[in-house]
Amino acid sequence: MTPVRVLVVGRGGREHVLAWRLAQDPEASEVLVAPGNDGMARSHRCIAVDESDSDGLIAACRSERIDLAVIGPEAPLAAGLADRLAAAGIAVYGPSADAARLESSKLFAKKNMLEAGIATAIGREFEQFEDAVAALSRFGPPWVLKVDGLAAGKGVLITRERKQAEEFLAACLLQDHFGVGGRRIVLEEFLEGEELSVMAVSDGARFTLLPAARDYKRALDGDQGPNTGGMGAYAPSPLLEPSLEDVVRGRVIAPILQRMEMLGTPFRGTLYAGLMLTPSGPMVLEFNGRFGDPESQAVLPLLHGSLTRLLLSAAQGALEPEVVQREPGAVVAVALVDEGYPDAVWAKGTIEGLEKLTGDPELMVFHAGTRWEEGRWQVRGGRAAYVVARAESSADARARVYRAIESLRGPGWRCRRDIAAPTGGVAAGSGLEARGGEGS
Ligand code: AMP
Ligand code: GLY
Repeated sequence: MTPVRVLVVGRGGREHVLAWRLAQDPEASEVLVAPGNDGMARSHRCIAVDESDSDGLIAACRSERIDLAVIGPEAPLAAGLADRLAAAGIAVYGPSADAARLESSKLFAKKNMLEAGIATAIGREFEQFEDAVAALSRFGPPWVLKVDGLAAGKGVLITRERKQAEEFLAACLLQDHFGVGGRRIVLEEFLEGEELSVMAVSDGARFTLLPAARDYKRALDGDQGPNTGGMGAYAPSPLLEPSLEDVVRGRVIAPILQRMEMLGTPFRGTLYAGLMLTPSGPMVLEFNGRFGDPESQAVLPLLHGSLTRLLLSAAQGALEPEVVQREPGAVVAVALVDEGYPDAVWAKGTIEGLEKLTGDPELMVFHAGTRWEEGRWQVRGGRAAYVVARAESSADARARVYRAIESLRGPGWRCRRDIAAPTGGVAAGSGLEARGGEGS
């Protein structure tokens, strides 16, 4: 195979682990990042072009002779970056704007799940405040309210308090709080069970599943506090046993991919299914059109073989699923976040000691909202960095990751202490005021 020059688009922990993993493949002669961050700049050349600047990215791909562009975040995908790069003749891994609607419109996703016969929560859409309020009596409590469009981390409210549900509806439908995407609301049935994230790499027709991961969305230990972009993850999840994996393949991933093909908008990229494992089987909470963050930090270190070939083959519409295999073992990823995250980011913290974690090959640090200033790693965003450990078992990976975190110092940051703990994070249910979705 001729050497491949790769550009990863994005600046978070997901893009850092992608660049790190792609750079291990002998096929990848260089992995560049745009715009990247100070942590990624230690090992990759960063190009100072924003994710939203498609002209700038096309120019960078041309001048750097890029053979494969891998797009990390959802916003540029929804805005059509993959379409524009493809039109410029650049092989791109990531869905078209039409296919990315599986993530960028909850209504589109729900309608097509129903058409394809995929199990999901029963939902109804509303544009009128009065209609939505009247429907609250039929749907809850607890109430699950979702903004139709991308909403920067504030698009989902789950609550048992009617007043809060009404306030959320008013903010969306009367006060235009979330812009156009928030003028439509989905009210849906509350599902109970264990959550699981499953990612499939697809060329539009065929797909391969990556190891399943468990994400920890709540800010505080024991699944308390508000929802965040993700406080940590581990993989593989023992919940996805082979028979269940077949169900997910056959009843979730394959039918939605077929449906997208039938609509004339094949989905080429990472299809992420957020699943609730209910007593009657797995049900889809959401689809995303990209790698999960922080799931990728736990999943990608478990892949053996050539991720570069896998993503390039998907981008070219001729998936080679056999070029990647799952490694035995387990990975635990813990997010180091701003002390005030997610509600009031302070952005004045310092993480001391990250530099010293480089000796152990089974220990990795992936950066997101950090800056290297005055000779230190400063916390400049909500999710600052991830400490990630690999080991034979998830218990060992967990011990290794927290041993490393114990050695860190400095003010203004914190982390959850119960990622991958035997009972940690399972105690959902109390204080249901969750604001879910993306955002860092
Ligand atoms: P979403 O962005 O749609 O995945 O929602 C964010 C989080 O809200 C999910 O990870 C779940 O924890 C929770 N959630 C979403 N939909 C439901 C539902 N129908 N029933 C229970 N919990 C849900
Ligand atoms: N960790 C959830 C997401 O990537 O959307």
